[in-house]
Amino acid sequence: MIQIVKDTRPWFFLQTTHSTYGMRVMETGHLEHLYYGERITVDTQDPSSCAPLVIQRAFAPGNTCIYTKEQPQISMEDVCLEVGTCGKGDIREPFLEVCFTDGSVTSDFTFVSFEVLTLKDRDERMQASGLPHSYSEEESSSAKCLHIILQDATNRLELQLFYTVYEDCDVITRSACLLNRSDTFVTIERCMSAQLDLTEDYSEVTHFSGAWAREMHREQITLSSGKFVNSSYTGTSSNRANPFVILSPENTCETSGSCISCNLIYSGNHYEALEKDSYGKFRFVAGINPRSFSWQLAPGEAFYTPEAVLNFSADGSRGLSGQLHSFIREHIVRGVWKHKPRPVLLNSWEACYFKIDEKKLLQLAKAGKDAGIELFVMDDGWFLGRNNDTSSLGDWEPDPKKLPGGIASLSKKIKELGMDFGIWVEPEMISENSNLYKGHPDWAMKIPGHPHSEGRNQCILDLCNPEVRKYVIEEMTRVFSSGEIRYVKWDMNRNFSDIYSPYLPAAKQGETAHRYVLGLYQIMEELTTRFPKILFEGCSAGGNRFDLGILCYFPQIWASDNTDALCRTGIQNSYSYGYPLSVFTAHVSSCPNHQTLRITPLETRFQVASFGILGYECNLKDLSGSDLNAIREQIAFYKKWRDVFQFGSFYRGAENEASDSETLSWTCVSPDGRRAVGLFFRRLTVPNQSHDWYRPVGLLPDVKYHFYGRNIKYNLKDFGDLVNTVSPIHIKQGSALQEILSRFVNMDGEKEDLTAYGDTLMRAGIALKPAFAGTGYNSDTRLFPDFSSRIYFMEAVE
Ligand code: DGJ
Repeated sequence: MIQIVKDTRPWFFLQTTHSTYGMRVMETGHLEHLYYGERITVDTQDPSSCAPLVIQRAFAPGNTCIYTKEQPQISMEDVCLEVGTCGKGDIREPFLEVCFTDGSVTSDFTFVSFEVLTLKDRDERMQASGLPHSYSEEESSSAKCLHIILQDATNRLELQLFYTVYEDCDVITRSACLLNRSDTFVTIERCMSAQLDLTEDYSEVTHFSGAWAREMHREQITLSSGKFVNSSYTGTSSNRANPFVILSPENTCETSGSCISCNLIYSGNHYEALEKDSYGKFRFVAGINPRSFSWQLAPGEAFYTPEAVLNFSADGSRGLSGQLHSFIREHIVRGVWKHKPRPVLLNSWEACYFKIDEKKLLQLAKAGKDAGIELFVMDDGWFLGRNNDTSSLGDWEPDPKKLPGGIASLSKKIKELGMDFGIWVEPEMISENSNLYKGHPDWAMKIPGHPHSEGRNQCILDLCNPEVRKYVIEEMTRVFSSGEIRYVKWDMNRNFSDIYSPYLPAAKQGETAHRYVLGLYQIMEELTTRFPKILFEGCSAGGNRFDLGILCYFPQIWASDNTDALCRTGIQNSYSYGYPLSVFTAHVSSCPNHQTLRITPLETRFQVASFGILGYECNLKDLSGSDLNAIREQIAFYKKWRDVFQFGSFYRGAENEASDSETLSWTCVSPDGRRAVGLFFRRLTVPNQSHDWYRPVGLLPDVKYHFYGRNIKYNLKDFGDLVNTVSPIHIKQGSALQEILSRFVNMDGEKEDLTAYGDTLMRAGIALKPAFAGTGYNSDTRLFPDFSSRIYFMEAVE
């Protein structure tokens, strides 16, 4: 709901179910930020009831600039603003920085008018932006947009601010549009999406940093003075710094306390800065990274900023995540796959890498079908001359040596096996060693006459060039129509270097990185419209472009090239702060793991991957019969619980928060609260410390649940030569005898089985059967060596 208090000057209140965002037009005409926090009551008929929100001013702080002689008590340096600019006394991180033809950089925006828009009206006004944005499916949606117009009268610039309110998810989004109403060029040096000036102590920033194969490392810093910046300069939203950040007071934790999060619906260079000013207030800004960015705005032209998603929770990060999960599922992800169960897939990459051919793929697919796989994906290596990563990107023709019948034949055969078929592409790239490059060297992003650097031996196509975009759209249309393709993995494997668009004139080179992203969005929009039924999965060397921009087109993203179960617990736990399980994919791979060489139990690899969109990425043909049986059983089980995993409410256990916690737990609860599935995981085993508690979250407190575990069987080999303490014959490790016995002798795992109320299970927790502690084993013992996990079920009993 948007509430307007009409007074001499208007006050604006954006109300969600649990939060309020307040601002007003102040005496100078600037838009003053008043409040962002737990919901407060606003009496639109009584402006005096809003008075406590206004910071009273009798004099300006010493050694600051006074905005005008008429208002000597106001210094812009000490005002909470919705838009900070340069040159009028506000010396904090600006929202906007522009340079005029006379070389001046001072701008000053004051209030002109406002209107409340439906989302349809908002979208019409933003149509020219070329940027993806949040949406609402319902015709009669309660979501509304407050559209405020400010102007810099002397420079004849108009700044439009859009505030969209998604009441049920407690989300407010912000974006801006700068319009040049003058008759000369203006250069934009920065134009942010959101600014928050906070008077409360929001000194702690939670951010998610990383690198390839170690995405989403959750870190917290406390800002006592100065500035903290979370940004990317890779051309992508990046695995170095995900654009999602959380601000909170120091005492906020998983289960309690205030927090505000911000994420950008954007896939390129981004920038989030928190600054503590000299008066103890915090300014937060988020938007396109101003580094190497500039935009020439011609008379009459408009520049749009990406939408920033703001969320407030008074219930700690758990509350925040729940709201964001609903928001992303309802208002970001779209298309036929939005609510559709995602298939269990088998991907050829870690099984074969580049060494693929039709025969090999069909054998792998057949093994997948026997195990219950629903979608077979041919990853990299299928096109002309692509035997390693040094060539062929751009030549999207099947290699006849590998696929004699092309994609049509392979996809048909996969369909005949009873599975859907999917394909890997990397459409934004060009290898120097390719036919495409021979024909169009100027389509690669390079600075003419200068040596250039590459990543993974490839160049980036200049998506600023409309001819290149047309080529990509037509080539991909051809590939996606060349067989029965139901799924596409859209990869992007390098960061930007030598940033330069051969298509753009010199004066517009500062626009290259952003224009690239706009070009990409145009391509994605066109292809997802042409192929609405294809399930698209975003990928960028794993999680190098894991963001809300991609999710507006593709409903899921490959979270990381790291498939090690232990690493994945951390990576997936971190993603869950800002993204629902239904948008990140997770695969069971072989052991020793290809990224870490770590050995983890197959059961753990499966259980961890189930808390994501489950897939497999290993050579099933090489697995033992018992592993294949286990996988068949895993997939059958997952299909039964898929709706809860993929579309239930997800909760982190409180213990996950401590970075040194030896255990981790997750719970997914069905929308009606009557079915739940939980994971309990231990990193390293501690001997003789045998008791563990699993504490589910999100159950209905007054409903009784049947709590039970999965039937687990242990292989004799799991006990090493300890078996000799009970075996009548000596069994040597690694011997043929051990191998034969291990095929026939399986030992029952512990059984958990009890019935209790939801509140008991959640508050007291379940004291699990004691873990093996070196003094014997029976079926009431939980065998729980390093990296072990259990899945538990909770089903409401009538
Ligand atoms: C990087 C991706 O993240 C991998 O999963 C795989 O598709 C390779 N690229 C293929 O080159």
